[in-house]
Amino acid sequence: MTNQSGSKRPWAEPFRIKVVEPLKTTNAAYRSQALEEAGFNTFLLRSGDVYIDLLTDSGTSAMSDQQWAAMMTGDEAYAGSENFYQLEEAIRSAYGYRYVVPTHQGRAAEHIISRIMIKEGDIIPGNMYFTTTRLHQELAGGQFIDVIVDEAHDPDSEFPFKGNVDLDKLQGLIDRYGAERIPYVSIATSVNMAGGQPISLANLRELRELTAKYGIPIIHDMTRVAENAYFIKVREEGYRDAAISDIVLEICSLTDGATMSAKKDALVNIGGFLAVNNEEIFEEARNLVVVYEGLHTYGGMAGRDMAALAVGIGESIDEDHIRARVGQVQYLGEQLMKAGIPVVQPIGGHGVFIDAARFLPHLQQDEFPAQTLAAEIYLDSGVRAMERGIVSAGRNKKTGAHNYPRLELLRLTIPRRAYTQAHMDVVAASVNAVFRKRESIGGLRMIFEPRYLRFFQARFERGS
Ligand code: F0G
Repeated sequence: MTNQSGSKRPWAEPFRIKVVEPLKTTNAAYRSQALEEAGFNTFLLRSGDVYIDLLTDSGTSAMSDQQWAAMMTGDEAYAGSENFYQLEEAIRSAYGYRYVVPTHQGRAAEHIISRIMIKEGDIIPGNMYFTTTRLHQELAGGQFIDVIVDEAHDPDSEFPFKGNVDLDKLQGLIDRYGAERIPYVSIATSVNMAGGQPISLANLRELRELTAKYGIPIIHDMTRVAENAYFIKVREEGYRDAAISDIVLEICSLTDGATMSAKKDALVNIGGFLAVNNEEIFEEARNLVVVYEGLHTYGGMAGRDMAALAVGIGESIDEDHIRARVGQVQYLGEQLMKAGIPVVQPIGGHGVFIDAARFLPHLQQDEFPAQTLAAEIYLDSGVRAMERGIVSAGRNKKTGAHNYPRLELLRLTIPRRAYTQAHMDVVAASVNAVFRKRESIGGLRMIFEPRYLRFFQARFERGS
């Protein structure tokens, strides 16, 4: 990575390590048995059997000394915890939204906003689906329709803003269904399922103009907003000298409300919130949160969790932090690219996404190439990754057939501040070892499928 002054001097993590957690190493025979027991699903492995855990960046980050110190200030009052007011202030000042409802994590906020805003038969356009977000939209009676730019579905396209909305596609939906059937447009910053790809501020502004004409609000999945802001800073014209904190504020100002899984960008192990500008929606959300989460001043979080989150929000938009965080992901991506491994271009903000369809071209999509690859990498080294392909895409609600997503990806997701560059080298070596024997790898067959979000609990066996 090039440093701030533009020279190629090495860079290092902007922290030193105060507490360590030993990692367990295992041999191939042990891992083979663990994988069988887990039904070839990395979600079902025991964490103690994993060496380097790149399943997700969700709730897996290392908290800072300041966050741990804040934990000790937890005010565990049932009502009116001081930490809630700190959190509310942190959200207002970093993101600019007016009203805050805490939730235990992101999907709880998605549940509440979907219930309030969506009615049977509604259409929710968005820049690519996310699993839990879409499910809550569907459970509320809506139908998600993807309006992301075509480049997002092409792993080789180097388009710098693959998270952008295709405004013609959106206009087409408005013409076809009418604005009354579109309760909001669902916009994620740093689009997870596209490979951690950003939306540009220019696109967001155009989107705002179009939706404002029809009175359609924008609800922002801001789970990885800081990473998106970093990409805007380094890629979008006019933002090189802008502060990440200002870019984040500008993004939020172009939307009407947000759901947040604070377990990602905001550097906590648990937590989330719903934030809106509309007072009526806030009142309804404040009412619903007591049904599903807890009182509106804790919403499923302990006081100490809210305290850590208030600090984490500030740290997440620190320039050194975000540069190193995205830099580490880029570093792993470059190691893999040097070895000729097909990865989604450009490298994303929270993980490196391997194109499993090209890695294992001899497998059909219903032999689960990405699931297979996750299993093989675990077998090789104990590194755990996550399927983001046909298993994650689930089934068509009407026909019951598999959804066949154009992207069949394996995600190597990097927790924040948890691993060093040396860990990244080990991961790259393992993926490379599997790549060299790829032709001998056979597919999987699904033998158990749960009803919702099947990727979490489905079981597989060898042979398709
Ligand atoms: N939105 C996005 C973009 C996400 O990535 C996630 C979670 C959620 C919402 C839901 O938040 O887990 O706190 O309920 N993504 C995790 C992942 C699970 O591994 O990508 P949650």
